[in-house]
Amino acid sequence: MNVFTRVATSAIALAATALAANAQDIKVGVLLPYSGTYASLGGEIEAGFMLGLEVFGAEGMTFEIVKEDTEAKPPVGLAKTRKLVMQDKVDVIMGVVSSGVMGAVRDMIDGSKVPLIVTTAGNDDATGENCSAYVTRLAFSNRQINRPMGAWMAEQGIKKVYTLAPDYAAGHQMIAAFTEGFQSGGGEVVGGAFSAFQKTQDFGTYLAEAKESGADAIYAFYAGGEAISFVKQYDSFGLSDTLPLYGMGLLTSPLYVAAQGDAALGTIVGLNYVPTIDNAENKAFVGAYTEAYGKGPSEFSVYGYDAAKALVNAVEGGATDRESLAVALAKADFQGPRGETRIDPATNNIIQPIYVFETVAGEDGALTQKVLAELPVEQDPPNGCTLSQ
Ligand code: PHB
Repeated sequence: MNVFTRVATSAIALAATALAANAQDIKVGVLLPYSGTYASLGGEIEAGFMLGLEVFGAEGMTFEIVKEDTEAKPPVGLAKTRKLVMQDKVDVIMGVVSSGVMGAVRDMIDGSKVPLIVTTAGNDDATGENCSAYVTRLAFSNRQINRPMGAWMAEQGIKKVYTLAPDYAAGHQMIAAFTEGFQSGGGEVVGGAFSAFQKTQDFGTYLAEAKESGADAIYAFYAGGEAISFVKQYDSFGLSDTLPLYGMGLLTSPLYVAAQGDAALGTIVGLNYVPTIDNAENKAFVGAYTEAYGKGPSEFSVYGYDAAKALVNAVEGGATDRESLAVALAKADFQGPRGETRIDPATNNIIQPIYVFETVAGEDGALTQKVLAELPVEQDPPNGCTLSQ
């Protein structure tokens, strides 16, 4: 895929006050999975991003979009990044969903000094040991979501957990962070498995092992097509009645619950966004998104939308090229649908609260997500990042 689109932001977007002076043509590489198990995530992030450019962009600001499909495969992601940087000569890149792709493209981004706004990949190293002045995270780090969720589950009195996740960087980091949080609260991980990423269709053997493990609950991370089939199989295996399912929030993203149906009922997860958050920015976002696309947003839409907000703010502030964009993006700080959305200058990681929510049947019978707890704002430790030194 190599679609070349030109997006001129509409005059209704923002009052054009004083912005003409910053009239800018910014070339944006959109680096997302449009095929493979994460294909639906790519579409959702792009939709949020395009809406954000429309809503926040000002007259005189033009964004040229060059889209590339990573297929959620590290070598493909690296080849596409190289093309965006060398051939298309983009000013900035937005995207990256898989932690594996993040690991593969990090050196290319850092070496070429093209700023990357990360809009899902939670790879801890990207804002830890392998942090870069050119990588700014606007979604979450794997540690940030899973460690507090582990601590919260231990607080609820859950003693023994069996873990399941796909066998690649994100799966391993999420389960390690969960384990750290759960053990710190006195919980015990009695077993776990990693399923082949993008290759597992039948989770039966893993579910049988989980059932026999003696655990009180399961903790899982799956996303995209794998989240849909995992949650459905969990239910049809008869486990939902006996072994409560907990997880990283993408497991029951609003993007998948319709396909998961009643199988998702009762699943309790932690995440940084849920469409039912009660604040003015979120209401405006949910309204605009629903009007534009005829369906409600998911957290992935928010990551794209917030990336657009950070980019527009950077351009409004006078950023014009790769270097000035990188500096400005790392200072992003605004009120967004998630509440205060702020970048930590020590790591370029995002600082944000985490929500625990359960999938329940709403008053109209349709599935919805009920917030059970808002956990304190999470700020990862530098984890080896030396940006602020
Ligand atoms: C990741 O690889 O970091 C990842 C992928 C998909 C998600 C979340 C995290 O939904």
